[in-house]
Amino acid sequence: MARHGVYVLGVAAVLLLGISTVSRSKGLKGREHQRASQIPSQFSPGERFAMKEALKGAIRIPTVFCQQFFPTVFKTSFIQHEVVGEYSHLLTVRGSDPSLHPYMLMAHSDVVPAPDEGWEVPPFSGLEHDGFIHGQGTLDNKNSDGLKCFAILQALELLLKRNYIPRRSFSIALGHGHNGAQKISALLQTRGVKLAFIVDEKSGGPSLILSYRIAGSEKGLINLSLQVNMTPGHSSAPPKETSISILAAAVSRLEQTPMLNMFGSGPSKMTLQELAHEFPFPANIILSNLWLFGPLVSRFMERSYITNTLVRTTMALIMFNAGVNVIPPVAQAIINMQIHPAQTVQEVLDLIKNIVADSRVQFHVLNAFDPLPVSPSDHQALGYQLLHQIIQSIFPEVSTVVPGICIGNTDSRHYANLTTGIYRFNPLYLGTGLNSRKISVQFIQNADADQEPAPHRHEL
Ligand SMILES: *[C@@H]1O[C@H](CO)[C@@H](O)[C@H](O)[C@H]1NC(C)=O
Ligand SMILES: *[C@@H]1O[C@H](CO)[C@@H](O)[C@H](O)[C@H]1NC(C)=O
Repeated sequence: MARHGVYVLGVAAVLLLGISTVSRSKGLKGREHQRASQIPSQFSPGERFAMKEALKGAIRIPTVFCQQFFPTVFKTSFIQHEVVGEYSHLLTVRGSDPSLHPYMLMAHSDVVPAPDEGWEVPPFSGLEHDGFIHGQGTLDNKNSDGLKCFAILQALELLLKRNYIPRRSFSIALGHGHNGAQKISALLQTRGVKLAFIVDEKSGGPSLILSYRIAGSEKGLINLSLQVNMTPGHSSAPPKETSISILAAAVSRLEQTPMLNMFGSGPSKMTLQELAHEFPFPANIILSNLWLFGPLVSRFMERSYITNTLVRTTMALIMFNAGVNVIPPVAQAIINMQIHPAQTVQEVLDLIKNIVADSRVQFHVLNAFDPLPVSPSDHQALGYQLLHQIIQSIFPEVSTVVPGICIGNTDSRHYANLTTGIYRFNPLYLGTGLNSRKISVQFIQNADADQEPAPHRHEL
């Protein structure tokens, strides 16, 4: 719990600062003078102390979003602050160059409720103990979001204090759950906003080696109810089949018939090819010759349930309700499907109905959404290239940065109408928390240093 809290803030700052390094990358042409004027992402002892104190202060109150910690952000004339749908916050930073396509950083301002047990120090104390700052919202797998939100704001605060004026406009969306993200997105859509890219929390899938996935896609979802209705009967004169057995057979058929292995039609094939050189012989040869070894690799990926989720639409039976001591009239099961980016909700529903092949089973979609389109990761993809460069400059131990799929769903799908480039990126995922602030500081500056890449084919 609460490890490395103060460091995490660093990542955000580097993110904001980091974008000028990208100017040296292929594909994005930077300008010399921009590099020279860059504000370093190293922090002085005084700044470190101030950031640490602010973090401790923020932990003491059960929300990380508090204007008092970011006085400069909230009094800067070119930053507009709006409260959206009561709990979400949208900050719009107007850059000096309106010709540059704006971008957005997303974080979550809601901190999950803290149970009192399980803490070495009280959750909202912000106490320093063994060199770590403890508290709800500090770095922890469960609730790193609040801290990231804090890190972005602190990075911005730091840049503004050093008189930095961004060239490229950007917004910071601090959403409160799905609802907040929906409302912010709807607001931006009514304003006709189009974004060059969005950076969201979450990482791009499980790590095999020291590589980093920037998730440029995420799976879709269906919660599907399967129901069988029969006339009720008495168990002394049982019918041949009951609603329970019909439904159980249907569910069993689904479990025995996995969805198609989609290896090769999604980002995972490219991910493996780019990682090939990281593996020892013979895996490197196999992975760099997927035209030949593709079928072998795809079967290998099916064997672990983690890599299996990368190659196909998965199914999990999550609820089964039937029977109260008589032959039940109704049996209902709910399955949850996570849809591979190369399939759609409709395709998966059709497949399910074909596999069940029993007209006594009725289907009701409880909720569903298609996978998000795969965001570009080529040399023209500004958001991807910026993240790529920053990860490599801040984490030299990370040898490879590749596109991946986000397993599970994020709030970013609510923003799909605003941009073609949504990248899920989690600096905390990289182990040492140093650096949320640092990353944000570098990111904002690097985004300024770059010229607009040539319009992408899928550009809105
Ligand atoms: C269905 O999907 C959502 C994810 O969007 C999940 O939160 C919800 O609990 C699921 N289950 C049911 C029974 O709807
Ligand atoms: C995206 O735009 C379409 C067409 O205007 C609209 O129907 C849809 O609800 C929008 N989706 C989101 C998630 O805002």
